[in-house]
Amino acid sequence: MSEKKSKVILTGDRPTGRLHVGHYVGSLRRRVELQDSGEYDKIFIMIADAQALTDNAENPEKVRQNIVEVALDYLSAGIDPAKSHILIQSQIPQLYELTDYYSNLVTVARLQRNPTVKNEIQMRNFEASIPVGFFTYPISQASDITAFKATTVPVGEDQEPMLEQTREIVRKFNSVYGETLVEPEIMLPESSACLRLPGTDGKAKMSKSLGNAIYLADEPEDVRKKVMSMFTDPDHLQVSDPGKVEGNPVFTYLDAFSRKEHFAQFCPDYADLDEMKDHYKRGGLGDVKVKKFLNDVLQSSFEPIRKRRHELEKDIPYIYEVLKKGTEAAREEAADTLMRVKKAMKIDYFNDNALIEEQMQRYGNK
Ligand code: TRP
Repeated sequence: MSEKKSKVILTGDRPTGRLHVGHYVGSLRRRVELQDSGEYDKIFIMIADAQALTDNAENPEKVRQNIVEVALDYLSAGIDPAKSHILIQSQIPQLYELTDYYSNLVTVARLQRNPTVKNEIQMRNFEASIPVGFFTYPISQASDITAFKATTVPVGEDQEPMLEQTREIVRKFNSVYGETLVEPEIMLPESSACLRLPGTDGKAKMSKSLGNAIYLADEPEDVRKKVMSMFTDPDHLQVSDPGKVEGNPVFTYLDAFSRKEHFAQFCPDYADLDEMKDHYKRGGLGDVKVKKFLNDVLQSSFEPIRKRRHELEKDIPYIYEVLKKGTEAAREEAADTLMRVKKAMKIDYFNDNALIEEQMQRYGNK
Protein backbone atom coordinates (compact mmCIF):
# COMPACT_ATOMS: atom_id res chain seq x y z
CA MET A 1 0.00 0.00 0.00
CA SER A 2 1.46 3.36 -0.93
CA GLU A 3 1.26 5.81 1.93
CA LYS A 4 -0.13 9.18 0.97
CA LYS A 5 1.35 11.91 3.08
CA SER A 6 -1.45 13.60 4.93
CA LYS A 7 -1.88 17.34 4.52
CA VAL A 8 -2.41 19.22 7.74
CA ILE A 9 -2.93 22.90 8.41
CA LEU A 10 -2.10 24.61 11.67
CA THR A 11 -2.49 28.30 12.18
CA GLY A 12 -3.57 30.64 14.91
CA ASP A 13 -3.89 34.01 16.54
CA ARG A 14 -3.14 35.56 19.88
CA PRO A 15 -6.39 36.48 21.61
CA THR A 16 -5.56 40.05 22.52
CA GLY A 17 -8.46 41.72 20.74
CA ARG A 18 -11.22 41.26 18.23
CA LEU A 19 -10.08 40.47 14.71
CA HIS A 20 -9.95 43.31 12.21
CA VAL A 21 -10.25 43.48 8.44
CA GLY A 22 -6.46 43.16 8.19
CA HIS A 23 -6.71 39.74 9.82
CA TYR A 24 -9.53 38.95 7.43
CA VAL A 25 -7.62 39.61 4.19
CA GLY A 26 -4.29 38.55 5.65
CA SER A 27 -5.41 35.15 6.88
CA LEU A 28 -9.02 34.50 7.76
CA ARG A 29 -10.44 34.65 4.23
CA ARG A 30 -7.71 32.31 3.04
CA ARG A 31 -8.30 29.86 5.85
CA VAL A 32 -11.93 29.57 4.90
CA GLU A 33 -10.96 28.95 1.26
CA LEU A 34 -8.42 26.32 2.28
CA GLN A 35 -10.95 24.71 4.58
CA ASP A 36 -13.55 24.56 1.83
CA SER A 37 -11.08 23.36 -0.83
CA GLY A 38 -11.28 19.86 0.68
CA GLU A 39 -7.57 19.41 0.00
CA TYR A 40 -6.55 19.09 3.62
CA ASP A 41 -6.92 16.04 5.80
CA LYS A 42 -6.94 18.00 9.04
CA ILE A 43 -7.16 21.65 9.97
CA PHE A 44 -6.31 23.08 13.38
CA ILE A 45 -6.87 26.72 14.26
CA MET A 46 -5.29 27.70 17.52
CA ILE A 47 -6.29 30.45 19.88
CA ALA A 48 -2.81 31.08 21.24
CA ASP A 49 -3.69 32.30 24.72
CA ALA A 50 -0.49 31.01 26.33
CA GLN A 51 1.56 32.87 23.73
CA ALA A 52 -0.54 36.00 24.36
CA LEU A 53 0.35 35.72 28.03
CA THR A 54 4.08 35.85 27.24
CA ASP A 55 3.76 39.60 26.90
CA ASN A 56 0.50 40.08 28.80
CA ALA A 57 1.35 38.24 31.99
CA GLU A 58 -0.15 41.00 34.08
CA ASN A 59 -3.25 41.24 31.96
CA PRO A 60 -4.89 37.80 32.04
CA GLU A 61 -8.39 39.29 31.96
CA LYS A 62 -7.82 40.70 28.47
CA VAL A 63 -6.71 37.32 27.17
CA ARG A 64 -9.55 35.50 28.89
CA GLN A 65 -12.26 37.80 27.51
CA ASN A 66 -10.89 37.68 23.98
CA ILE A 67 -11.02 33.91 23.56
CA VAL A 68 -14.73 33.99 22.89
CA GLU A 69 -14.38 37.14 20.74
CA VAL A 70 -11.83 35.49 18.47
CA ALA A 71 -13.91 32.30 18.31
CA LEU A 72 -16.96 34.37 17.30
CA ASP A 73 -14.89 36.10 14.62
CA TYR A 74 -13.66 32.74 13.27
CA LEU A 75 -17.09 31.18 13.10
CA SER A 76 -18.78 34.23 11.65
CA ALA A 77 -16.09 34.51 8.95
CA GLY A 78 -16.87 30.97 7.84
CA ILE A 79 -14.67 28.61 9.83
CA ASP A 80 -16.78 25.47 10.05
CA PRO A 81 -16.26 23.35 13.17
CA ALA A 82 -17.24 20.25 11.20
CA LYS A 83 -14.14 20.79 9.03
CA SER A 84 -11.71 22.68 11.26
CA HIS A 85 -10.78 22.17 14.90
CA ILE A 86 -10.65 25.40 16.86
CA LEU A 87 -8.53 24.86 19.97
CA ILE A 88 -7.29 26.74 23.01
CA GLN A 89 -3.52 26.45 23.30
CA SER A 90 -3.21 26.50 27.10
CA GLN A 91 -5.49 23.47 27.39
CA ILE A 92 -3.02 21.19 25.60
CA PRO A 93 -0.38 20.33 28.23
CA GLN A 94 1.59 18.19 25.75
CA LEU A 95 2.72 21.38 24.02
CA TYR A 96 4.74 22.41 27.06
CA GLU A 97 6.47 19.08 27.37
CA LEU A 98 7.51 19.34 23.74
CA THR A 99 8.74 22.90 24.30
CA ASP A 100 10.90 21.71 27.16
CA TYR A 101 12.62 19.04 25.07
CA TYR A 102 13.01 21.28 22.00
CA SER A 103 14.62 24.00 24.10
CA ASN A 104 17.66 21.75 24.53
CA LEU A 105 18.20 22.00 20.79
CA VAL A 106 18.11 25.80 20.50
CA THR A 107 20.80 28.27 21.53
CA VAL A 108 20.26 31.62 23.23
CA ALA A 109 22.17 33.26 20.38
CA ARG A 110 19.78 31.76 17.84
CA LEU A 111 16.77 33.14 19.70
CA GLN A 112 18.41 36.54 19.94
CA ARG A 113 18.83 36.57 16.17
CA ASN A 114 15.15 35.86 15.47
CA PRO A 115 14.01 39.07 13.69
CA THR A 116 10.41 38.85 14.90
CA VAL A 117 11.49 38.50 18.51
CA LYS A 118 14.01 41.33 18.07
CA ASN A 119 11.37 43.57 16.64
CA GLU A 120 8.81 42.74 19.32
CA ILE A 121 11.34 43.27 22.11
CA GLN A 122 11.86 46.76 20.76
CA MET A 123 8.16 47.49 20.34
CA ARG A 124 7.41 46.42 23.89
CA ASN A 125 10.40 48.16 25.49
CA PHE A 126 11.59 44.81 26.79
CA GLU A 127 15.27 45.58 26.02
CA ALA A 128 16.28 45.88 29.66
CA SER A 129 14.22 43.00 31.04
CA ILE A 130 12.90 40.39 28.67
CA PRO A 131 10.53 37.84 30.23
CA VAL A 132 12.03 34.38 29.70
CA GLY A 133 8.73 33.02 28.41
CA PHE A 134 8.55 35.75 25.82
CA PHE A 135 12.14 35.23 24.75
CA THR A 136 11.56 31.54 24.16
CA TYR A 137 8.11 31.70 22.55
CA PRO A 138 9.51 30.74 19.13
CA ILE A 139 10.31 27.34 20.65
CA SER A 140 6.79 27.08 21.98
CA GLN A 141 5.46 28.00 18.54
CA ALA A 142 7.55 25.17 17.09
CA SER A 143 5.71 22.87 19.50
CA ASP A 144 2.36 24.24 18.33
CA ILE A 145 3.24 23.49 14.75
CA THR A 146 4.89 20.11 15.17
CA ALA A 147 2.44 18.75 17.76
CA PHE A 148 -0.23 18.67 15.08
CA LYS A 149 2.17 17.36 12.41
CA ALA A 150 1.37 20.44 10.34
CA THR A 151 2.58 20.36 6.76
CA THR A 152 1.21 23.81 5.92
CA VAL A 153 1.15 26.94 8.06
CA PRO A 154 -0.77 29.82 6.49
CA VAL A 155 0.45 33.00 8.20
CA GLY A 156 1.57 36.56 7.48
CA GLU A 157 5.09 37.42 6.43
CA ASP A 158 5.92 38.55 9.98
CA GLN A 159 5.79 34.87 10.95
CA GLU A 160 8.47 33.80 8.48
CA PRO A 161 11.25 33.78 11.11
CA MET A 162 9.05 31.60 13.35
CA LEU A 163 8.63 29.05 10.59
CA GLU A 164 12.34 29.16 9.81
CA GLN A 165 13.13 28.48 13.45
CA THR A 166 10.57 25.67 13.59
CA ARG A 167 12.09 24.02 10.54
CA GLU A 168 15.52 24.19 12.13
CA ILE A 169 14.22 22.55 15.29
CA VAL A 170 12.57 19.80 13.25
CA ARG A 171 15.75 19.10 11.29
CA LYS A 172 17.87 19.13 14.42
CA PHE A 173 15.47 16.85 16.28
CA ASN A 174 15.25 14.41 13.40
CA SER A 175 19.00 14.30 12.92
CA VAL A 176 19.69 13.69 16.61
CA TYR A 177 16.84 11.34 17.48
CA GLY A 178 15.79 9.90 14.12
CA GLU A 179 13.05 10.86 11.67
CA THR A 180 10.11 11.81 13.91
CA LEU A 181 8.80 15.33 13.29
CA VAL A 182 7.14 16.71 10.16
CA GLU A 183 8.84 19.70 8.56
CA PRO A 184 6.23 22.40 7.88
CA GLU A 185 5.97 24.80 4.95
CA ILE A 186 4.88 28.39 5.30
CA MET A 187 1.99 29.57 3.11
CA LEU A 188 2.05 33.34 2.62
CA PRO A 189 -0.92 35.48 1.54
CA GLU A 190 -1.32 35.74 -2.25
CA SER A 191 -1.07 39.45 -2.91
CA SER A 192 0.93 42.30 -1.47
CA ALA A 193 -2.23 44.18 -0.43
CA CYS A 194 -3.07 41.15 1.68
CA LEU A 195 0.40 40.80 3.14
CA ARG A 196 -0.27 43.65 5.47
CA LEU A 197 -3.21 45.98 5.30
CA PRO A 198 -2.25 49.44 6.63
CA GLY A 199 -4.27 51.25 9.28
CA THR A 200 -6.97 53.73 8.28
CA ASP A 201 -4.43 56.46 9.14
CA GLY A 202 -1.93 55.09 6.62
CA LYS A 203 0.40 53.73 9.31
CA ALA A 204 1.92 50.39 8.40
CA LYS A 205 0.27 48.39 11.15
CA MET A 206 -3.41 48.19 11.94
CA SER A 207 -3.79 47.91 15.68
CA LYS A 208 -6.13 48.51 18.52
CA SER A 209 -3.69 50.71 20.40
CA LEU A 210 -3.31 53.04 17.41
CA GLY A 211 -7.09 53.30 16.99
CA ASN A 212 -6.73 52.79 13.25
CA ALA A 213 -8.44 49.44 12.74
CA ILE A 214 -11.76 48.42 11.24
CA TYR A 215 -13.10 45.38 13.09
CA LEU A 216 -15.13 42.51 11.69
CA ALA A 217 -17.66 43.17 14.41
CA ASP A 218 -17.96 46.93 13.72
CA GLU A 219 -21.48 48.15 13.03
CA PRO A 220 -22.16 49.65 9.56
CA GLU A 221 -22.14 53.22 10.83
CA ASP A 222 -18.73 52.75 12.51
CA VAL A 223 -17.30 51.31 9.33
CA ARG A 224 -18.65 54.23 7.31
CA LYS A 225 -17.19 56.81 9.70
CA LYS A 226 -13.81 55.11 9.70
CA VAL A 227 -13.72 54.90 5.92
CA MET A 228 -14.82 58.49 5.37
CA SER A 229 -12.08 59.77 7.67
CA MET A 230 -9.33 57.62 6.14
CA PHE A 231 -5.96 59.05 5.30
CA THR A 232 -5.38 59.41 1.53
CA ASP A 233 -2.80 61.20 -0.57
CA PRO A 234 -1.97 64.38 1.41
CA ASP A 235 -1.07 66.22 -1.81
CA HIS A 236 -4.42 65.50 -3.42
CA LEU A 237 -6.04 68.73 -2.21
CA GLN A 238 -8.47 69.48 -4.99
CA VAL A 239 -10.50 67.06 -7.06
CA SER A 240 -8.67 68.23 -10.18
CA ASP A 241 -5.21 67.51 -8.68
CA PRO A 242 -3.44 64.37 -9.83
CA GLY A 243 -3.38 61.82 -6.99
CA LYS A 244 -1.12 59.01 -5.85
CA VAL A 245 -2.43 55.49 -5.43
CA GLU A 246 0.79 53.97 -4.06
CA GLY A 247 0.86 54.23 -0.30
CA ASN A 248 -2.70 55.57 -0.36
CA PRO A 249 -4.54 53.27 2.06
CA VAL A 250 -7.91 53.78 0.37
CA PHE A 251 -6.52 52.17 -2.76
CA THR A 252 -4.66 49.51 -0.81
CA TYR A 253 -7.99 48.52 0.75
CA LEU A 254 -9.60 48.49 -2.69
CA ASP A 255 -6.76 46.26 -3.92
CA ALA A 256 -7.56 43.87 -1.10
CA PHE A 257 -11.35 43.90 -1.19
CA SER A 258 -12.84 45.17 -4.43
CA ARG A 259 -13.89 42.90 -7.24
CA LYS A 260 -15.08 43.70 -10.71
CA GLU A 261 -18.71 43.03 -9.75
CA HIS A 262 -18.50 45.77 -7.13
CA PHE A 263 -17.91 48.31 -9.89
CA ALA A 264 -20.98 47.22 -11.84
CA GLN A 265 -22.99 47.34 -8.64
CA PHE A 266 -21.75 50.49 -6.89
CA CYS A 267 -19.64 52.56 -9.29
CA PRO A 268 -20.48 51.84 -12.95
CA ASP A 269 -18.40 54.84 -14.11
CA TYR A 270 -15.44 52.47 -14.08
CA ALA A 271 -15.12 48.95 -15.40
CA ASP A 272 -12.53 47.97 -12.84
CA LEU A 273 -10.01 49.21 -10.30
CA ASP A 274 -7.37 49.99 -12.91
CA GLU A 275 -9.69 52.46 -14.61
CA MET A 276 -10.53 54.09 -11.33
CA LYS A 277 -6.85 54.34 -10.40
CA ASP A 278 -6.00 55.86 -13.78
CA HIS A 279 -8.59 58.56 -13.29
CA TYR A 280 -7.33 59.30 -9.79
CA LYS A 281 -3.75 59.55 -11.04
CA ARG A 282 -4.75 61.87 -13.91
CA GLY A 283 -6.76 64.14 -11.62
CA GLY A 284 -10.46 64.80 -11.57
CA LEU A 285 -11.51 62.05 -9.18
CA GLY A 286 -12.23 63.16 -5.62
CA ASP A 287 -11.43 61.24 -2.44
CA VAL A 288 -15.04 61.31 -1.28
CA LYS A 289 -16.22 59.35 -4.28
CA VAL A 290 -13.50 56.75 -3.84
CA LYS A 291 -14.21 56.45 -0.13
CA LYS A 292 -17.93 56.05 -0.74
CA PHE A 293 -17.15 53.22 -3.11
CA LEU A 294 -14.80 51.61 -0.59
CA ASN A 295 -17.51 51.91 2.04
CA ASP A 296 -20.00 50.13 -0.25
CA VAL A 297 -17.46 47.40 -0.93
CA LEU A 298 -16.70 46.88 2.75
CA GLN A 299 -20.34 46.98 3.78
CA SER A 300 -21.32 44.36 1.23
CA SER A 301 -18.31 42.16 2.07
CA PHE A 302 -18.83 42.25 5.82
CA GLU A 303 -22.59 42.31 6.15
CA PRO A 304 -23.00 38.52 5.98
CA ILE A 305 -20.21 38.08 8.53
CA ARG A 306 -21.73 40.60 10.92
CA LYS A 307 -25.15 38.98 10.62
CA ARG A 308 -23.74 35.55 11.36
CA ARG A 309 -21.88 36.99 14.33
CA HIS A 310 -25.08 38.43 15.79
CA GLU A 311 -26.73 35.01 15.47
CA LEU A 312 -23.78 33.23 17.10
CA GLU A 313 -23.64 35.78 19.93
CA LYS A 314 -27.05 34.53 21.03
CA ASP A 315 -25.65 31.11 21.94
CA ILE A 316 -22.41 31.45 23.89
CA PRO A 317 -22.61 27.89 25.32
CA TYR A 318 -22.47 26.63 21.73
CA ILE A 319 -19.21 28.56 21.20
CA TYR A 320 -17.72 26.88 24.26
CA GLU A 321 -18.93 23.50 23.03
CA VAL A 322 -17.09 24.09 19.73
CA LEU A 323 -13.93 25.11 21.57
CA LYS A 324 -14.10 22.13 23.87
CA LYS A 325 -14.53 19.62 21.04
CA GLY A 326 -11.78 21.22 18.98
CA THR A 327 -9.44 21.23 21.94
CA GLU A 328 -10.13 17.57 22.69
CA ALA A 329 -9.34 16.55 19.12
CA ALA A 330 -6.18 18.63 19.24
CA ARG A 331 -5.10 17.07 22.52
CA GLU A 332 -5.32 13.60 21.02
CA GLU A 333 -3.09 14.58 18.13
CA ALA A 334 -0.57 16.30 20.41
CA ALA A 335 -0.49 13.28 22.72
CA ASP A 336 0.36 11.03 19.78
CA THR A 337 3.22 13.31 18.75
CA LEU A 338 4.54 13.53 22.29
CA MET A 339 4.51 9.76 22.56
CA ARG A 340 6.57 9.50 19.36
CA VAL A 341 8.96 12.19 20.56
CA LYS A 342 9.57 10.48 23.88
CA LYS A 343 10.10 7.15 22.15
CA ALA A 344 12.60 8.72 19.75
CA MET A 345 14.40 10.32 22.69
CA LYS A 346 14.33 6.99 24.53
CA ILE A 347 12.54 8.43 27.54
CA ASP A 348 9.48 6.20 27.28
CA TYR A 349 10.83 3.94 30.05
CA PHE A 350 7.69 2.00 30.90
CA ASN A 351 7.27 0.89 27.29
CA ASP A 352 10.95 0.30 26.68
CA ASN A 353 11.14 -3.47 26.96
CA ALA A 354 14.58 -3.59 25.38
CA LEU A 355 15.96 -1.45 28.17
CA ILE A 356 14.24 -3.43 30.91
CA GLU A 357 15.40 -6.77 29.48
CA GLU A 358 18.96 -5.57 29.08
CA GLN A 359 19.09 -4.49 32.70
CA MET A 360 17.45 -7.71 33.87
CA GLN A 361 20.20 -9.62 32.12
CA ARG A 362 22.91 -7.38 33.48
CA TYR A 363 21.72 -8.05 37.00
CA GLY A 364 21.06 -11.70 36.45
CA ASN A 365 17.27 -11.55 36.87
CA LYS A 366 15.43 -14.69 35.89
N1 TRP B 1 2.60 34.00 16.54
C1 TRP B 1 1.31 34.06 15.91
C2 TRP B 1 0.87 35.52 15.85
O1 TRP B 1 1.40 36.33 16.59
C3 TRP B 1 0.24 33.24 16.62
C4 TRP B 1 0.59 31.78 16.70
C5 TRP B 1 0.88 31.06 17.82
C6 TRP B 1 0.72 30.89 15.60
N2 TRP B 1 1.16 29.79 17.51
C7 TRP B 1 1.07 29.63 16.16
C8 TRP B 1 0.56 31.02 14.23
C9 TRP B 1 1.30 28.51 15.35
C10 TRP B 1 0.80 29.90 13.42
C11 TRP B 1 1.16 28.66 13.98
O2 TRP B 1 0.01 35.85 15.08
